[in-house]
Amino acid sequence: MYKVEEFPRLHQASLDKKTVLLRVDFNVPLKDGKVTDDERIVRALPTIRYLFEHGARIVAFSHLGRPKGEWRTDLSMKPVAERLAELLEYPVHFVPACIGPDVNSTVEHLGYGEILILENVRFYPGEKANDTEFARALASLGNVYVSDAFGVLHRKHASVYALPALMQERYIGFLVEEEIRKLGALLENPDRPFVALLGGAKVKDKIPVLENLIGKVDTICIGGGMAYTFLYALGHDIGRSRLEKEHIDVVKNLLDLSQRYGTDFLLPVDHIAVDHIDVDATITRIRTGEDFHGKIGVDIGPETRKLFAQKIAEARTIFWNGPMGIFEMEPFAEGTRAVARALIEAECFSVVGGGDSLSALKQFGGYDKVTHASTGGGASLAFVAGQHLPGLDVFLEPLKKA
Ligand code: 3PG
Repeated sequence: MYKVEEFPRLHQASLDKKTVLLRVDFNVPLKDGKVTDDERIVRALPTIRYLFEHGARIVAFSHLGRPKGEWRTDLSMKPVAERLAELLEYPVHFVPACIGPDVNSTVEHLGYGEILILENVRFYPGEKANDTEFARALASLGNVYVSDAFGVLHRKHASVYALPALMQERYIGFLVEEEIRKLGALLENPDRPFVALLGGAKVKDKIPVLENLIGKVDTICIGGGMAYTFLYALGHDIGRSRLEKEHIDVVKNLLDLSQRYGTDFLLPVDHIAVDHIDVDATITRIRTGEDFHGKIGVDIGPETRKLFAQKIAEARTIFWNGPMGIFEMEPFAEGTRAVARALIEAECFSVVGGGDSLSALKQFGGYDKVTHASTGGGASLAFVAGQHLPGLDVFLEPLKKA
């Protein structure tokens, strides 16, 4: 498990008259060329302000979406740069490239206390390929590397891994520090009872985190599409609900494991089911063990909501990742809403991670209603699963020759 103390931290850096290469995760949702949720930008502001206050100039870069090495105007960082300027109430320079003559001359003329946002790093195939040449070109733009891109630290990409591997002066930023502390607190001496709520469509995505949490938590509550592979493995009818047949054996092992460790493993006891997934579909409530009559489970039912809410109310520590149903459709949002509300009311150490759970939290209450709303989706899951994060490991590895 990672500990903040093992990393070089920003307050140890000498920053005056330095050019800081700041990797952020500004992978934010956009609509009609505007940022629709700026949480990830807001959360990087303390690091940006600190760098300004300490006399540095900033060359910041991020990925946006998955352009697969192609230039896509709909995935340009320009609207993100504009939103950052609004939040900082300060001009933000933008160059539609990451490397090349325009970038070099803009950096050269950038004043100390100013910030430049580069174009989407994933427009360059070298980013995903963790290419050293691309990393070298980025490295030549500055003399200090700061990582505040928690959401992407599980990716071994050039701006996350190959670049800091080349930089003599490298530090983690305040957001990464906060994420390590808060997510780390879940795994180290959590207050009990510790309840993990896991949902979402795919069981495959949650296997590593379940493997790590069984034995560490007191109760696991499972909702969302992933619940149906567990119910099927236990011999229940699930109609046409989502089933990942290839993971049945793993799921059975997880159930055995939780019995062996004495972890309470709660699956939905009732369901909201439909004939077809549509907001106008007729809703039926089905109890676990009953015949689904070929229907599809789309949300947890009222008894399950009550059961999960009760576990949340009794908890001293909670980790939530993944919605309880297809919450984007109002008729199937009740389960996720109930969990979000119970979590907001709970007076305990609560951590929420994952894009869908965060948007549910935002929709049903607000990010500030929990102890920690992680900016990481896959990264927070990987962290809680006890996996290695290349973007953190690189700080603990010896420097590569530039
Ligand atoms: C995220 O949104 O989880 C991060 O920005 C990582 O994005 P990715 O899954 O496209 O690598």
